[in-house]
Amino acid sequence: MDLFEKFVANPGPLGQWADTGYGYFYFPKLEGPISDKMVFKGKKCIVWSLNNYLGLANHPEVRKVDEEAARDWGLASPMGARMMSGQTVYHEQLEHELAKFEHKEAAYVLNYGYMGMVSIIDSLLDRHDAVVYDSEAHACILDGLRLHMGKRFVYPHNDMDAFEKEMERAKKLTDQTGGGILVITEGVYGMAGDQGKLKEILSFRNKYDFRLLVDDAHGFGTMGKTGAGTSEEQGVMDGVDLYFGTFAKAMAGIGAFVAGEKRVIKSLTFKMRSQIFAKSLPMPMVIGALKRLELIQTHPEIKDNLWKIVHAMQSGLKAEGFNIGNTNSPVTPVYLEGGIPEATQIIYDMRQNYGVFCSMVIYPVVPRNVIMLRIIPTAGHTLEDVKYTIDSFAEIRKNLDAGKYSSGKVPQVADIF
Ligand SMILES: Cc1ncc(COP(=O)(O)O)c(C=O)c1O
Repeated sequence: MDLFEKFVANPGPLGQWADTGYGYFYFPKLEGPISDKMVFKGKKCIVWSLNNYLGLANHPEVRKVDEEAARDWGLASPMGARMMSGQTVYHEQLEHELAKFEHKEAAYVLNYGYMGMVSIIDSLLDRHDAVVYDSEAHACILDGLRLHMGKRFVYPHNDMDAFEKEMERAKKLTDQTGGGILVITEGVYGMAGDQGKLKEILSFRNKYDFRLLVDDAHGFGTMGKTGAGTSEEQGVMDGVDLYFGTFAKAMAGIGAFVAGEKRVIKSLTFKMRSQIFAKSLPMPMVIGALKRLELIQTHPEIKDNLWKIVHAMQSGLKAEGFNIGNTNSPVTPVYLEGGIPEATQIIYDMRQNYGVFCSMVIYPVVPRNVIMLRIIPTAGHTLEDVKYTIDSFAEIRKNLDAGKYSSGKVPQVADIF
């Protein structure tokens, strides 16, 4: 069998729709500067798909620092991996500021959150250890776990009874192997917007010996009084042993970090293979991250603006009778009933006729016959954007109930354009 023949014959769960939706439902090209309104297929749309939570992507001070750093350093600097030749005072300064912000002894900057998380997990565990994790963990956590040679115990999403059962099993095992237990949860679950149960997990501390790693990709900068994240929101900053945040969302950049005890961070820097064997984060990203972090700390009104939009959107949708699930973060899912034909026709109608661009989530991420439209409010949106979008959603639902999207056909992008 030819490897490529076999490879392309199985398109995978996402690739099966590639020809139907390429450039429209998949890989859509949003044009123009990042803002609340961008152009899609020649039409101006209100965009609710960008994790630019704090609207920092085009903040004038951010743009200025990004441009100056690119001019002063170029994109190449520093050359080489941190350990060999890519260490700079700016990387160290950023780590110092991040550790302070997260009330941790130390932090380490990671090139990409995804690769960083894979290596944090890989570094921490050996075959004697057990890991207990949430069933809705992000792909980067699952990929880190793929490297784990020991046992993993998964509990259904945020189910604390099941969590305890898995902890018992993990404890029994590690009592025999002499290993330790790592618990992994997300701070905010990026699809449905509900928070991980950090506080409840930590209440098991007196019963089980474990370390807690929190992936707070969506909570860093958005949650908690100062924006330090979901651990701050839930009042458990001290209990979280390793706090992970990315720069790719609220910070509108690239890169990530992990923060915790000094001795652990130091050991991680000598063990995380995706960081040791990869080039250092370029200077403009590091200097730009310093500026973004400074703005988060000195301009709390930016986060307040985000939450003003979040509250308007979530209360407005609820008042219109929409089901937005259990979100308690900015991530706002809207649940409707229907299959893939309805979902694609709704998205098409919303983008082409209403000028509203949001992402759709379908089976297998959500159950069959459930359509999740996912809205990411940002500080850059306006209350008019919110009102227009809720009105559009109300009309879309009316159309759905009237059977407008029930032809059973999936719009073929090739036919549309
Ligand atoms: C929960 C979670 N963890 C990690 C990542 C990866 O972060 P990065 O984009 O920095 O690689 C993401 C990004 O989608 C995420 O949502």
